Amino acid sequence: MKTVNLILTLISVFSFTCTHAKIGYFWHITDFHYDPLYTSQGDTRRHCRKADERGSSGHHRALGRFGDYSCDSSLELIESALRYMRTRHSENVEFVLWTGDIIAARYNVNEDERYQAIRNMTELLRMTFSSHFVFPVLGHTDPAPSERLTNLWSHWLPMEALQTLKNGGYYTIEQSHSKLRIVALNTNLFSVREASSAHARRQWEWLDAVLEKATANSEMVYIVGHAAPGSDSRYNVHSVEANVKYLRTVRRYARIIAGQFFGHLHVDTFRVIYDKEQPVSWALLAPSVSPHRDPAGSSNPGLRLYKFDTDTGKVLDYTQFYLDLAAANRAGATTATGGAEWVAEYNLTQYYGLRDVSAESLHNLADKLRIGMPHEMTSFYKYLRAYSVKHDNTDSCDGACAHQHFCAITCLEHIAYRQCVEAAASALAASGRSAPLIAPLINMILILITFIMVSYVDYN
Ligand SMILES: *[C@@H]1O[C@H](CO)[C@@H](O)[C@H](O)[C@H]1NC(C)=O
Ligand SMILES: *[C@@H]1O[C@H](CO)[C@@H](O)[C@H](O)[C@H]1NC(C)=O
Repeated sequence: MKTVNLILTLISVFSFTCTHAKIGYFWHITDFHYDPLYTSQGDTRRHCRKADERGSSGHHRALGRFGDYSCDSSLELIESALRYMRTRHSENVEFVLWTGDIIAARYNVNEDERYQAIRNMTELLRMTFSSHFVFPVLGHTDPAPSERLTNLWSHWLPMEALQTLKNGGYYTIEQSHSKLRIVALNTNLFSVREASSAHARRQWEWLDAVLEKATANSEMVYIVGHAAPGSDSRYNVHSVEANVKYLRTVRRYARIIAGQFFGHLHVDTFRVIYDKEQPVSWALLAPSVSPHRDPAGSSNPGLRLYKFDTDTGKVLDYTQFYLDLAAANRAGATTATGGAEWVAEYNLTQYYGLRDVSAESLHNLADKLRIGMPHEMTSFYKYLRAYSVKHDNTDSCDGACAHQHFCAITCLEHIAYRQCVEAAASALAASGRSAPLIAPLINMILILITFIMVSYVDYN
């Protein structure tokens, strides 16, 4: 017995001295799409706003207190999210990433009122995180950078960051007690409309200089932005040139990029970036607080808490939290207070059985999704459940749909993505004409050929 105890003590002392890495946490919250006009007496055909006299002909159902799957966020939904985050302050939260689209796209009243809505959201966050820094980035529904906007966020950012934020909507922050640097991009400057502007050019020059300096100083970097790179045609917002340029930058500095964090899609997904067929970097896309997704999708509201090594910036895991909106509204209808039960949905490494959070692990996961069928317990089934934050039915995603997800995750360049999707379609057509037994085999071979082809096109 004594020997066993001694060994156990030795093991614990040993593991203590070996694991001196400091564990910290940070939140990633995104796409509030706060709609001040949301009302539970609203009409879903009018984005859950009050119908005018003519329109209120009994066509609408009673809406939930916390929001509706077809509409942007109510104030009560956002307040419940922030209340929940406050209950988790015991976790060593270091900072908060807030990746844009603060107000509803359709809240297009005058600029003053949009500004007021952003100010109210900023105030809520300031009260929730009174002793934390929140790092905001601009989404496409947010106003252009200005003195006024910069002033709103001046308590979170140092002077130098405020200067570049005001001029171009981007900035960088050095973490005081570690070698971690946060680089906040204005991805609105990647859009077709903006991509050739002077602002866009300055952001590229600035980004290059920041990453060059970080390399020289042996810093690790988090890149934070609203819209991720990629070519998924359903959501593609970046110009082809900006997309290519961004990917080239990531490949060049992959060694010091410890993570890329984006929102925008209102879904839970990820991207793997390759260099000469090797996975070299990853981007994780957090789902929105807003339950509505344009043009016609829905998710449950989500909040994400990352766990990381504060010395090196290495991301160790995240916990995805969510609100079952339908259940919250049912409970909210019967109790005057409460009703919104935010809970943990899953932990990344455990959920998918990942060894770590790295480009290689996420590449292996993507590979499993490629041939995945949405049967329960497969990685693909889990991915689909998480994609809409446990809202959508997974049955509607067939083989072609599964392959499209794979293409979006692994083929971030436009041509490669298109070829990936088209090759899958012809593979499926071929399997439809073949005898049932050899169909899966042909399918597999075609997918394999596609993969090799796509890899070739993508990285050369
Ligand atoms: C912002 O908050 C103020 C004070 O609570 C309130 O009067 C105003 O209606 C709010 N505006 C928006 C757009 O949320
Ligand atoms: C998930 O991660 C959180 C935060 O690190 C932790 O408290 C929790 O125990 C984890 N849950 C599981 C099931 O691993």
